Amino acid sequence: MSQPALTSLASWQKLSAHYLSTIEGKHLSNLIHSPNRIEQFSIEIPGMYVDFSKNRMQVETLELLAALAEEQNLASWIKKLYAGDKVNDTEERAALHTVLRSNKIADSSYAASVQPLVNAEFAKMEKMVGRVRSGHWRGATGKAITDVVNIGVGGSDLGPLMITHALQTIKSPVNIHFISSIDGTQTSNILKQLDQATTLFIVASKSFSTIDTLSNAKTALNWLQERLDKHVFRQHFIGISANPKKMSEWGIVEQNQLLFWDWVGGRYSMWSTIGLPIALKIGMDGFREFLAGAEAMDRHFAEAEFRQNIPVMLGLIDIWNVNFLDIHQKAVLPYDARLKYLPSYLTQLVMESNGKSVDRQGNTVNYKTCPILWGEVGPNAQHAFYQLLHQGTSEVMSDFIAIGLRDDFNTESNEAVEQSLLEQHQLTLANCFAQSRVLMLGDDAIPENLQSSFDSPFKHYSGNQPSNTIILDEISANTLGKLIALYEHKTFVESVIWSINPFDQWGVELGKLIANETKKALSDDVAMKFDASTEALIKRVKR
Ligand code: F6P
Repeated sequence: MSQPALTSLASWQKLSAHYLSTIEGKHLSNLIHSPNRIEQFSIEIPGMYVDFSKNRMQVETLELLAALAEEQNLASWIKKLYAGDKVNDTEERAALHTVLRSNKIADSSYAASVQPLVNAEFAKMEKMVGRVRSGHWRGATGKAITDVVNIGVGGSDLGPLMITHALQTIKSPVNIHFISSIDGTQTSNILKQLDQATTLFIVASKSFSTIDTLSNAKTALNWLQERLDKHVFRQHFIGISANPKKMSEWGIVEQNQLLFWDWVGGRYSMWSTIGLPIALKIGMDGFREFLAGAEAMDRHFAEAEFRQNIPVMLGLIDIWNVNFLDIHQKAVLPYDARLKYLPSYLTQLVMESNGKSVDRQGNTVNYKTCPILWGEVGPNAQHAFYQLLHQGTSEVMSDFIAIGLRDDFNTESNEAVEQSLLEQHQLTLANCFAQSRVLMLGDDAIPENLQSSFDSPFKHYSGNQPSNTIILDEISANTLGKLIALYEHKTFVESVIWSINPFDQWGVELGKLIANETKKALSDDVAMKFDASTEALIKRVKR
């Protein structure tokens, strides 16, 4: 097969030469002092400020990276994405999650043609949300619904879980719970707390064939039927899927079915009816605000020139770090516990999208692609893995995420508590800014009067670890919409540079298939031939 062309592009070659001649061996503690650093290395849009000055690069690096994006035809890829071209070529599908946010950006008849489908499903969803939130949706015994349980996994779980958790300070008339894991622990714990008569389940699955979700749904059905004999499907199950036939076969009645389509990727689906738990939590108007935040980012991505374009710049910076600085780990560090589930959501978005090693033509790539992403709420992670960030042997690039304003503590006018919570917010910001500074400067961050107490090889900080800092003005449906759409588009930018399809996920299929076979070996008494290790494991648990 022919060699992928990326590494022979003129802009790639120039970046390599630029790295060797100008950046290699330079420390961030010097680079940070370049003239107009902040003007050159930050972008602000309403609600969001992004500082990427703590990266091992110069203005020339940014310009060369922008030239690489030009050479890889990024602008035309963005147009294709928005127009509904089949950018997911291995599955011959469009990836039109942007249409869920608006029909006004794409100048495309296809994108416009699917908009009525979206509107119709949102209208149906709005009615359901209204009925549940107002108490008009009744369970089989006539009682109003108090608890909604979303059963789904991956893209049918992580987004809604993250956003409902992030918007926890908004009061909701119903409690929202999430069950995802196949092992049954979450299911049995949650069911123990709930009353069948007042619980509504959402079975969310694009394919409606994911065994994890279907086995949890079956357990939920059995639990309901312990107490309620009739109207269980009509009053206690909503289904969300791109496969209405399978939903019906499972038992979801037609009026309780919400659809989305094959042109919405699972990990890009929370903007569709999969976002129902979010709408139940914050109301349909709130959900539309969430969509509006994403739409603002879509517009920015489509319209801002590359050097002023947040997803483009952050995507290119990752490319620089991975392909030229050889950094293959990315930490996402939100400094607000409401963003607890952001890192796990991003593991799927980023690694399921770009964790690939063949390009769009099927050639094995001769360059590195997606870094390993992990993360945790920053202040807690400081007391866990920051040791490695500061003194380990791995280079790690980080995204720090801070919240500018906190006026949502709801302390019911207890001034002393309010005051100390606001101080805690200042402390949080201080920690966020201090950590990224020490990661950048290393020993150079040590104040002069404390130098002597750090005079030991065990107290040495090499610094030079690159990071970006994103400040959201506040956590709201709108700013979250912007933040998530930013990460989606940044992931797309990286895929375009690497020439890979970010919208398929063939790598997850084989494991599912083999699990089915293995299940047979575990449940039936058939001797099946596996490798020595698997056979021993099966024997061990059967004992
Ligand atoms: O196994 C991975 C995956 O296919 C993800 O891409 C998807 O988000 C998840 O499983 C759940 O799939 P579904 O929504 O079809 O149940």
